[in-house]
Amino acid sequence: MPDHKPTHIILGAGGHARVMAEALRLCDLTLQGHLGPFAGQGLGPYLGTDSALTDVAHRDAFVLIGLGFVNTDSMNRRKHILNSVAPDRLATLVHPSAILSPSAQIDAGAFVAAGAIIGTGTKVGLGAIVNTGAIVDHDCLIGANTHVATGARLAGGVTVMDDCLIGTGAVVRQGITIGTGAIVAAGAVVVRDVPAAVTVMGVPAR
Ligand SMILES: CC(C)(COP(=O)(O)OP(=O)(O)OC[C@H]1O[C@@H](n2cnc3c(N)ncnc32)[C@H](O)[C@@H]1OP(=O)(O)O)[C@@H](O)C(=O)NCCC(=O)NCCS
Repeated sequence: MPDHKPTHIILGAGGHARVMAEALRLCDLTLQGHLGPFAGQGLGPYLGTDSALTDVAHRDAFVLIGLGFVNTDSMNRRKHILNSVAPDRLATLVHPSAILSPSAQIDAGAFVAAGAIIGTGTKVGLGAIVNTGAIVDHDCLIGANTHVATGARLAGGVTVMDDCLIGTGAVVRQGITIGTGAIVAAGAVVVRDVPAAVTVMGVPAR
């Protein structure tokens, strides 16, 4: 019998790519290999640099964006990739240990990592990351290419616009809006709306 399972290519060769490859295997999905500046470990065959991405359409594979997002530079790299892959070629990946409300919506290219919790009515946008152990409670909106880092906690009704980083262990009070491209530092506690393209840190975050 031929194997009709969809096959995947990971873009990236570092830690985040390895985390995604592991989740992919745990989902019993097939990894064809990876693209990146160098050959990474545990990512299947090395298929070339990012410029080979245009061949992916011909490989009948789905693309996982395995680039990490820790600052504005890495945010922009991810954004560039997101804009260059058709949404129907982007793989959506949810680690088997994540807990998703049946009413949550996870858009194309998004990754929900191990132990993350996505609450009732929450939407995780195109290419967004909800990383290991993060909690995004009910009725939140996580924008496109936004990264909710490890162990961050968002209370109900929080809106995080596109291209934001919510740092590891940060806490966001209910109903807050975080503007496009903002960075919330690791460990910050956000109790007021955050304007676009600013970095806030501390408790309370300023
Ligand atoms: C906020 C952040 C973006 C700042 O990075 P940066 O611009 O490189 O800043 P620096 O490390 O040079 O620090 C600048 C100042 O901010 C302070 N600072 C940095 N991070 C801070 C934080 N999380 N909370 C409080 N203060 C912080 C530093 O102590 C330093 O203060 P000083 O000038 O008085 O010495 C970064 O520290 C951060 O928290 N990033 C999130 C990391 C993360 O969650 N990664 C996800 C992995 S899954």
